[in-house]
Amino acid sequence: MKVLVFDNYEAASEQAAQMVEAQILENGQSVLGLATGSTPIGLYKNLIEGVTARGVSYKEVCTINLDEYIGLANDHSESYHRFMAENLFDHIDISIDNTYVPNGVAPSAEEECIRYEEIIDRLGPIDIQILGIGSNGHIAFNEPGTDPETLTHVVELVASTREDNARFFPSIDEVPTHAITTGIKSILKSKKIILLATGKGKADAVKKLLSKEISKDFPASFLWNHKDVTLIVDQDAYALVQTEGQ
Ligand code: GLP
Repeated sequence: MKVLVFDNYEAASEQAAQMVEAQILENGQSVLGLATGSTPIGLYKNLIEGVTARGVSYKEVCTINLDEYIGLANDHSESYHRFMAENLFDHIDISIDNTYVPNGVAPSAEEECIRYEEIIDRLGPIDIQILGIGSNGHIAFNEPGTDPETLTHVVELVASTREDNARFFPSIDEVPTHAITTGIKSILKSKKIILLATGKGKADAVKKLLSKEISKDFPASFLWNHKDVTLIVDQDAYALVQTEGQ
């Protein structure tokens, strides 16, 4: 795992954007694995700017998102479909038919998981997978305890994840209890992975990750089993690692 430390969120976001744009400039038909959450918003802002500022085109790019809440329709204000439209897709020249997010209101969530994994295999391998990290070490919605062999599956969100994400909903009762998420194994199929972690709230998780202990209790630790992972952090997220190292 390569670790890149930046002064602040803006610099970390710019670095991630440069890596994504380099991939697209090399291959206009790249497949990107995308994440939601507050962390990648700065990356997406940079990518939007890149369309006009640097002439980057997404006309032939495909995107595959990590996860979606079960029970939220695509147009629900907190669905990940809506998040992606508002924070990226509506502002770049991508064809919406080339963007994939699990369907959280599919008649059968289990069948949707099978369909989604087939999409990953048909379009993949993903050239660059963007990941954030939950404060409990989850990646996508792979909560602590997840088996490393998991493919796309239905997950029951743990209390801490629902609490973390309650800030986006009128009350915690409205945070969905379940989600469809790509699995650890699905994520590790990607050619290259960029894990973004910024802000003090991620300092514990980054410290744990960099302890290199691989365990089901901390799903992001399975990234140590992949040969091309870049961890991009800001000083706040790296703070506990530095303190210990000095
Ligand atoms: C959610 C998403 C994850 C994301 C995590 C961290 O639960 N399913 O993909 O990485 O939250 O979010 P944030 O970037 O807002 O801290």
